[in-house]
Amino acid sequence: MNLMAIESPRGRQGELGQFLTATPVADFMASLFGPLPRTVRLLDAGAGAGALTAAFVSRCCERDDGVRAIEATLYELDGEILDALVATLRECEHRCAGKGIRFTFDIHHADFIQEMSARLAGDLFGTHPPTFDAAISNPPYRKIGTDSAERRALRSIGIETSNLYTGFIALIQRMLVPRGQLVGITPRSFCNGPYFRPFREDFLSQLDLRRLHVFESRQAAFREDSVLQENIIFHAVKGRNQSDDITVSSSSGEHGDEVSESVIPFVEVVHPGDPERFIHIPSAASHARAKETMNGLHTSLASLGLTISTGRVVDFRLKNALRKQPERGTVPLLYPCHFNGGTIHWPRLDARKPNAILDNDETRPWLVPSGVYVLTKRFTSKEERRRLVACLYDPEWVKAEWVGFENHLNYFHAGGHGLERTLACGLFAFLNSTVVDQYFRRFSGHTQVNATDLRTLAYPNRDTLEAMGREMKSLDLSQEAIDLLVTKHLHAR
Ligand SMILES: C[S@@+](CC[C@H](N)C(=O)[O-])C[C@H]1O[C@@H](n2cnc3c(N)ncnc32)[C@H](O)[C@@H]1O
Repeated sequence: MNLMAIESPRGRQGELGQFLTATPVADFMASLFGPLPRTVRLLDAGAGAGALTAAFVSRCCERDDGVRAIEATLYELDGEILDALVATLRECEHRCAGKGIRFTFDIHHADFIQEMSARLAGDLFGTHPPTFDAAISNPPYRKIGTDSAERRALRSIGIETSNLYTGFIALIQRMLVPRGQLVGITPRSFCNGPYFRPFREDFLSQLDLRRLHVFESRQAAFREDSVLQENIIFHAVKGRNQSDDITVSSSSGEHGDEVSESVIPFVEVVHPGDPERFIHIPSAASHARAKETMNGLHTSLASLGLTISTGRVVDFRLKNALRKQPERGTVPLLYPCHFNGGTIHWPRLDARKPNAILDNDETRPWLVPSGVYVLTKRFTSKEERRRLVACLYDPEWVKAEWVGFENHLNYFHAGGHGLERTLACGLFAFLNSTVVDQYFRRFSGHTQVNATDLRTLAYPNRDTLEAMGREMKSLDLSQEAIDLLVTKHLHAR
């Protein structure tokens, strides 16, 4: 697909932020809309010559997926482009008529910011703000000063933002019906610019972000205008419930380039608890590489001489043997709450869970002999960045002859005993790497990590795992350090 971002403008960039969307990009944007209602009320704010509405109409005509009427509302400030806009809309009418779709349009030769802010504020008596089922936009880009008319208009309805484009998007979002869809192409600056934090908060709290597309080469966007501005295309649905996963894709913006696409967890895009609400866009290409790397692994867990089992202590069945605190005659009992980064924090007297279990004839069958074990959580919360969370149980830190692993954990062992330390460290690094996590999420759509999933996973061979293990100088390495180490060894195979 050729996704050259933007066509040459008509010399109206500075004042009006006028950059017209090239047809392939417009078509790509229109293709991102999900199912639409039979009658679609469409908004195209900053319509220019109507490229986006035309692409939307083409999509509806080509897909023939139930849209019977399109009622388009278009806002455009530039009087000089209106003839071209009308001509485009006449073509749309013609196209729709051929497909039995009713097409009507309403052009507002007006300032979208001023008019919509006033309508949303209720200043224009008797004119309720309109509502839309779909919006497609390439809004104008221009900084708006703190005291500008635009800034004041937006502020009057509680929108604080420093660029026209974010002002447009914030207004458009407010006029969507619940489940209404927005596809936009904008600069990428709102994703991490410090000044855009209020905008990000507004945007992310009102919309369910479904798709992000980036142009990976800087030059590709606005090439003919020598404006180095990175663009992003997004598809979002009005509603407060963010989906767990989001599709990210990228293309170079060169002629004939490919779009690489990946589904990734939303928590990788906006990190839980990040007060800045930065929107990180992991490269879809790196996800594709992860898949390739994993496909190159052929060693089974069994051929490594290892087994994975689910923790054998089912606490409610052994209630009488559980102890809050370690005491004479007990051994450690480990729950997910004892995970502490890469290692174990035991005992945890502040936790609600017991820390110990009696070691007697009744409990012994459910215990394992002390040794180095790799533990993983069976359930991770949606907020956790990685779905696969592994840590190392090392008898150096927890002195005991036997240990109980509770049923919410899985543990890797060698025929019921601990692992050699170097192998365990390598396995620990591999399981905690982003490569495995990305791959894992693809085949397991839920937050539960079953022993079977880990049993059927392909692993690096023993030499590679041991080489990784030897290099692990500490277990609390950053994600970046683990990834660097793991990829280095996987690619050295
Ligand atoms: C980036 S261009 C995009 C044009 C068209 N949607 C496209 O994709 O080809 C933005 C358009 O918004 C118009 N515009 C700028 N400020 C505006 C405003 N305050 N109200 C309405 N339109 C505006 C410009 O004249 C320009 O045509």
